[in-house]
Amino acid sequence: MVRSIEDVEREHLLGIVSYSMVTPNTYHAKTISGEELLIKIKRRPTINNLFKDFGIAGFYYYLSTPLKREAIINDELTKSEFLNFDFPRMLHTDYCSYIVFEYIKNCNCNLLDIAVEKVVKSLIEFQSISINKKTKLYKTASSVLRSISVSTVKGIVVIGPKKLGVVTTISAIREVAKMLKLQKKLKQGWLLHKDFERNANYLVTDDRKIYFIDFEMTAIEKRWIMTDIVDLAWDVENMSIDHDLITEYLKEIDEIYDKSIELLTQARLILLRKAVYFIRGTKYSQEMNKQIINFIKDVLLDARSFELWYYSGLEKN
Ligand SMILES: Nc1ncnc2c1ncn2[C@@H]1O[C@H](COP(=O)(O)OP(=O)(O)O)[C@@H](O)[C@H]1O
Ligand SMILES: [Mg+2]
Repeated sequence: MVRSIEDVEREHLLGIVSYSMVTPNTYHAKTISGEELLIKIKRRPTINNLFKDFGIAGFYYYLSTPLKREAIINDELTKSEFLNFDFPRMLHTDYCSYIVFEYIKNCNCNLLDIAVEKVVKSLIEFQSISINKKTKLYKTASSVLRSISVSTVKGIVVIGPKKLGVVTTISAIREVAKMLKLQKKLKQGWLLHKDFERNANYLVTDDRKIYFIDFEMTAIEKRWIMTDIVDLAWDVENMSIDHDLITEYLKEIDEIYDKSIELLTQARLILLRKAVYFIRGTKYSQEMNKQIINFIKDVLLDARSFELWYYSGLEKN
């Protein structure tokens, strides 16, 4: 079982001479030949400390294969050529706990300098990868438990009672059910990245090439197909949304998609999912988390308030 950079080195003799941590799971490594690598490791507990540290959840975690999805999706992407985006090539993996990637140099995580049309084109090109039901990709990416609505409810149940209060938790679950009714399932499933944020999980190089990264959550979705674009458009720190991005996206998918998308319902559920996700995480300060909780209570859980909030942003532009 691979648990550290040293284990990866032993397995592949990459000649790593130094490395530094990028995030708790990812490392930037340099090899003796001057090559730069990005190594992602998701540790699984050993049998010994399994129950001690994690209890039943630990057992589930032990059985899971955290990076399998990311590796398989990367494999599938390698089979095609894309005009509008790229992705870091995978050099080694065990389809489970580690991936060694090429390192993308001179990049940032900011789409603001990229033309809206280009962002949308890249995203749609990624999302419309054809998914044959017989492929590994289909088996890997189709899963009810990961659907947007189920994962939103899961998130609400986990944080709700403590952070939102019981009454709000119940009304949040009710709202999700209502929104599910409003947005009918679409005919065709789309591959969604599902883990974008305004400043996460893509890279933009100095020469403005877009790389998509971090496919751990990528899945086929038949209902909430605006997830990625809404996630990218939401600026949680300023509580605003980039309407240009969303308008351009709707314009582009208009020709290829059926017309039954409920814009406000899509945006509201997708923001609720992300808001819950942010509160669960450690990314934001307590102050910011409080603000997000208020946004859930005052805006997201009421269709009318949400509509006002959404269009007020449009007027300001
Ligand atoms: N191939 C790469 N080249 C350069 N930087 C990368 C590469 N892959 C990831 N990163 C950097 O590492 C960070 C974490 O990688 P990511 O795959 O998103 O892992 P996590 O699951 O921890 O979010 C990214 O936000 C990005 O800054
Ligand atoms: Mg990430």
